[in-house]
Amino acid sequence: MEIFLKIWFCSLVLLNILPLCYCLDNGLALSPPMGWLAWQRFRCNTDCENDPKHCISERLFMEMADLMVSEGYAKAGYNLISLDDCWLDKKRGSDGRLRPDPLRFPSGIRALSNYIHSRGLRFGIYEDFGNYTCAGYPGILNHMELDAQTFADWQVDYVKLDGCYSFPSQMDKGYPEFGYFLNRTERPMIYSCSWPFYQLINKMEPDYKSISNTCHLWRNFEDIQDSWQSVTSIIDYYGDNQDTLIPLAGPGHWNDPDMLIIGNFGLSYEQSRAQMCMWAIMASPLLMSVDLRTIRPEFKAILQNSEIIAVNQDPLGVQGRRIYKKQGVEIWTKPVLPMNGKKFSWAVVVLNRRVDGTPSQVTVPLRELGLDSEEGYHVRELNDHKDIGFLSKDQAIRVDVNPSGVVMLKCTIQRVPPFTP
Ligand code: GLA
Repeated sequence: MEIFLKIWFCSLVLLNILPLCYCLDNGLALSPPMGWLAWQRFRCNTDCENDPKHCISERLFMEMADLMVSEGYAKAGYNLISLDDCWLDKKRGSDGRLRPDPLRFPSGIRALSNYIHSRGLRFGIYEDFGNYTCAGYPGILNHMELDAQTFADWQVDYVKLDGCYSFPSQMDKGYPEFGYFLNRTERPMIYSCSWPFYQLINKMEPDYKSISNTCHLWRNFEDIQDSWQSVTSIIDYYGDNQDTLIPLAGPGHWNDPDMLIIGNFGLSYEQSRAQMCMWAIMASPLLMSVDLRTIRPEFKAILQNSEIIAVNQDPLGVQGRRIYKKQGVEIWTKPVLPMNGKKFSWAVVVLNRRVDGTPSQVTVPLRELGLDSEEGYHVRELNDHKDIGFLSKDQAIRVDVNPSGVVMLKCTIQRVPPFTP
C-alpha cells in the first residue's frame, strides 16, 4: 500500500501535477556515505602561488583521488571525493552559470569529475542555499534550477548545500525546492543539507520529517575543529539529543556529525580510535578530511579498520544509543546483523573520557547491556581484532579502557546448533 502510494505520488510529480517531489527514496545512501572532503584539513587556502601543494585546486583533488585508490581507502569503502568551499570563481559566467576559479581549476569541473570517475570514485560538490557560500562565493539563491542542471551536466554524484547568508525561515521551502530540481535532472545525487543546523542556531524547531524526506544526510551541530574538545562536544550533542536524533537515522537518511579529523594535528592515537569507533556506532557518515599524502600509517590503519567500518555500514542502519554515562565512562550500543529470531547482535563502545593516566577497568554484565539471548554471544574486540570468546547472558564483559580511548566490541548472537544424533 505504502509503495503504491509512493509510486502514485511520484507519477503525479512526473506529470507535473505536484510542484515538489518528496520521493527521495531513490536508493542512494542506503548505508552512511563514506569518502573524503576537503574542508577541515585544507579550508579556504586559495594561495596556489605560494602553497601549490595545499591550496584548493584541481591538482589537490586529483592527487587525493589517486591516493584513495592506491592506498586502499576505496577498497575499504571510501568512494567519494568532494569539493568544499572556495572552488568557485567570485562571479557567475555571462550565461549565468556557476564556474570554477579559472586559475585553480583550469581544466574545468567536468574534467575533474571525469578524472575522479575514471578512478572508480564518486564526485561531490559544495554550494550554499543563500546569496553566498560561507567563504563569500556565489550561492544558489535565485539560480536553483540552473545550478541543479549544471551539477547534473558536470556528472556530480553528491551535493553539500550549506546555509550561510540565507534566512533559516526560508529553508523549509528552499531546501526541498532545490532537492526537487536535483531530482528533476534525473541524475541520482546524494543531497547533504545543513538546514537543521542553521535553524537550531536561530532557535527554530527543525521539521525533521521534511528534512529526512528531502536529504540523505544533514548537519545538526557545529563544525568540527581539529581538537579532542570539539570531538567530545559533538559526542555529547548526539548523546544528549539521542531520543530526537536516533529515530531519524536509517537507510537513505542520516544525521551527520561532520568530518573525521583522524590523521591531522589535534588528536592522539587513542583519541583517533575513539572518534572512529564513536562515528561508527553513531551510524555517521565517514567523511575523512586529511592529507592522504602524509598521513601516518597508524592513522591510516584506524581509518581502514574493516571490522569497525562494517559496524558503521551495517544494513540495519540503526544509530547507536548512549546507555551509560558516569564518572567519565560512557557505554554506547548499536543493534547489528546477524539476528537470531527477533534478537540482534550488538556493537558496543566503551568510551573513557577520564584523564587519570591509567586505564579504567569496566565490568558490565551482558544482561545490563540488553544482551539477553539464551544462546549467548561471541565477543570480539574490533580495534585489535581479538576474539574475547563466548559469553552467556549471565556473564560479564571486563575491559581495560585507556584514558581518552575506547574499546569496541562486536557481540555476535549465537544460534542453537542443529541437533545431530
Ligand atoms: C560551513 C560548513 C563547513 C564548511 C564551511 C565552508 O561552516 O559547516 O563544513 O563547508 O562552511 O565555508
